[in-house]
Amino acid sequence: MRDRVIIGSIMHAPNFGEVDICRDAIITVDKLGKIASVTRPTDPNYDKEKIKAKEDKKLEIFPDDSFLLPGFVDLHIHAPQWPQLGKALDVPLEVWLMEYTFPLESKYKDLNFALRVYNDLVDTLLSHGTTTAVYFSTIHEKATRLLADICIKKGQRALIGKVVMDNHDQCPEYYRDTSYQDALEKTVSFIEYVFAMKNNSDGLIKPVVTPRFIPSCSDKALEGLGKLAKLYGCHVQTHCSESDWEHNYVLKRTGVSDTKALKEFGLLGRRTILAHCNFISGEDMDIIADKGAAIAHCPLSNIYFSNAIFPLRRAIEKSVRVGLGTDLSGGPSASMFDTCRYSLNMSRVLEEGTDSEKNNKIRGVEGSRIDFREAFHLATAGGADALDLPVGRFETGYMFDAILLSTTSGKSPISIFGDLDTLEDQLQKIIYTATRANIVSTWVSGKRVSQGI
Ligand code: GUN
Ligand code: FE
Repeated sequence: MRDRVIIGSIMHAPNFGEVDICRDAIITVDKLGKIASVTRPTDPNYDKEKIKAKEDKKLEIFPDDSFLLPGFVDLHIHAPQWPQLGKALDVPLEVWLMEYTFPLESKYKDLNFALRVYNDLVDTLLSHGTTTAVYFSTIHEKATRLLADICIKKGQRALIGKVVMDNHDQCPEYYRDTSYQDALEKTVSFIEYVFAMKNNSDGLIKPVVTPRFIPSCSDKALEGLGKLAKLYGCHVQTHCSESDWEHNYVLKRTGVSDTKALKEFGLLGRRTILAHCNFISGEDMDIIADKGAAIAHCPLSNIYFSNAIFPLRRAIEKSVRVGLGTDLSGGPSASMFDTCRYSLNMSRVLEEGTDSEKNNKIRGVEGSRIDFREAFHLATAGGADALDLPVGRFETGYMFDAILLSTTSGKSPISIFGDLDTLEDQLQKIIYTATRANIVSTWVSGKRVSQGI
């Protein structure tokens, strides 16, 4: 049964490298927020559908300077780091954690503080068009529950994990799980809380097993989390081979790469999301592809912390599932448009190289670049596929998670010259220049969750 009908122009990227743009599509959405039909002007039943749509009291028609895009899927967000966005990026990862980030994250034992930050964060992300968010919270189970409550109340699709960190060597006393048993118990308690949440029967909120990264966890915690992931069949998220320091720490402690160690701990599977992966070897990539795990490519934070550029195209060529992550606040932007642009920029830097004293034949890594179509895919359908979620495309059977983008809104930075720009040019300009100022509305499961620019 259809609940609502929309006539508007759609832009989406269902496959890597391809975009599909259609003016004046008729989209019907059912009561559960699922797309029931998409009818195009080239379809034989279009005129009939249009007459039917015009008689529908719930018809919405969007203007010609507006486009429906799939909502963004942000595969890697540190919710508690929101107050730190745009600062504290002057030191390497291991110093940043100790000096700035752990002191900030420890504050979330105060639920009033958590409430203030998480309310603001979720509102901001929805207004930026992030309809699916994959969150690390903190070690605090209560504040993690609160984040889940806020997401469900505001209608954001979210995968959320209580962070586990119990390793005395790498975590300060004021901010660590009291024991591995305690970390596992709190993880179980959070998972069960989410499964029992009211209004979550459609699984809008999902729990995620979340070892912060190997350095911050004991072997016992990692083993236990691997077992819990299997027992509950839930997602796993962690950081993997992010920087020289982190990658070498894991090699020294375990004798193998992060990827192999995670596999041994039972933490690498179809539901695993690995952030970064800048230092994975070809063999690691094969293991990740074989296990069906996904990578959250975080180009903006990689500039500050990674010491290298993620070989994005190589991973995709090896059939690794990849999406994009802001990694805020390691990445100082909540915008997935910015994240698309940085994934494009960094792929070009990798291809061209950086050292002008080197001959251009050896300066960069040939064949590394991606284009705007590919970046758009990764930020939408690619991220959705990485999570096996039916979102990210305007196709029958997918959830209507979408944004309405105006190219002429009051403070729009997009310059469209109709006679010069094809529709694909307009999409290219959107990917290269759009901001929150262009997002008119955001929907999740057919429900409007943010409005106004
Ligand atoms: N590695 C462990 N924790 C973090 C974090 O909060 N951000 C990033 N970028 N890397 C990490
Ligand atoms: Fe991160």
